[in-house]
Amino acid sequence: MTSTVVRSGPKSSADWIAIEQATFMPNRRPPMVIERGQGSRVWDVEGREYLDLIAGIAVVSLGHSSPVVQRALADQSARLIHISNLYYSIPQLELAQLLMDHSPFDKVFFCNSGAEANEGALKLARKWGKRNRNGAFGIITAEHAFHGRTLATVTATGKESYTRSFTPLPEGFKQVPLNDMDALERAVDATTAAVFLEPIQGESGVHMSTQDYLRDVRDFCRDQGLLFMLDEVQTGIGRLGTLFGFERWGVEPDIATLAKGLGGGVPIGAVVAKDAAAVFEPGDHGSTFGGNPLMCAVARDVVTYILENDVLGNVNRVGSALKRGLEAMAQQQPLIESVRGEGLLLAVELRAERAPDIVRLGIEEGVLLNATGPTTIRLAPPLTLSEAEAEEALDKIARAFSRLDAPEVTQPTST
Ligand SMILES: Cc1ncc(COP(=O)(O)O)c(C=O)c1O
Repeated sequence: MTSTVVRSGPKSSADWIAIEQATFMPNRRPPMVIERGQGSRVWDVEGREYLDLIAGIAVVSLGHSSPVVQRALADQSARLIHISNLYYSIPQLELAQLLMDHSPFDKVFFCNSGAEANEGALKLARKWGKRNRNGAFGIITAEHAFHGRTLATVTATGKESYTRSFTPLPEGFKQVPLNDMDALERAVDATTAAVFLEPIQGESGVHMSTQDYLRDVRDFCRDQGLLFMLDEVQTGIGRLGTLFGFERWGVEPDIATLAKGLGGGVPIGAVVAKDAAAVFEPGDHGSTFGGNPLMCAVARDVVTYILENDVLGNVNRVGSALKRGLEAMAQQQPLIESVRGEGLLLAVELRAERAPDIVRLGIEEGVLLNATGPTTIRLAPPLTLSEAEAEEALDKIARAFSRLDAPEVTQPTST
């Protein structure tokens, strides 16, 4: 057994990081240990405060330690924490009804994460293809996608550096450039069952599907008898200022996947589907924890809060203010090439590979940002970020840019 620095009494960030280094399969993260959070802010073990503009990678939708989440956890944990899908339990039925009432979908399957939701959607597409397209099983995804890290979802993601150590990969995945209808049409053949896209590619740097593209893909899928599936793991549940991201494009997929913000910080995912695509039968798919009463009670209350408290309005207002502020910053700061995104999923594109430096300087200035790559900074704060907090964040980001003469460092990039 490896010895560690475990000892009683208060520990510094360095003490905790020594434990991590002794015990974890390696990961890369900045050298501070976050101990608590409240609203849009978190504090490390040294008591330093940070305004959190990444929110656990677009997860903590109502802010850190939201009273809504705390109350749901307390009430439900006193009642029933886990029972499995051998039996009915009430919060999962309430959450299912809520999601169906506020979406074009008819059926749901609950799971525990984004990758699991996508894995479920991919299995659904394969079964649908067997039944409806002579055994077709192929899935077309977009270049620069991110769909998760299980074997099937990492294959759908298609990034060579994520897959090279894990071959052989599942068959049947093809990638096409986003926003290129001709390429998509060329890629479809008799083996194709579905097209699977993110409305906005969050992990690769907030790359947007154009308005026309998603509509054309929907029409094409309908005409060709293909499933149209959207990965709404990052864009769903309010992040773009609509409950589902696809509402912004005026399209409805046959299947969508959800996770991240759905649970406001607790792990839950869902596959939602229209009746014609919801082909799972008993025994086809399953999950011990999926639909767990504790997680579903939280998700039920998070979604209810979002709908009843104009959180979507806040996302639109504060998202626009933040984007305008970043665009104004771009006028002063030659390093900034452009700003893009919708609602509270935004990216700042730089003209040089300095995004990790800005993230590091942001930490020093007390703001948490995320570099999705060397030139791209992503912002995905809590959906409850206030206008005053957005102003404060802009000041801190501007200060980080103004200090860029500090030596360059390598920082973690993304998921
Ligand atoms: C669009 C999208 N799909 C799937 C995933 C995977 O979700 P998880 O990390 O919960 O497995 C992510 C995570 O970043 C995502 O952004």
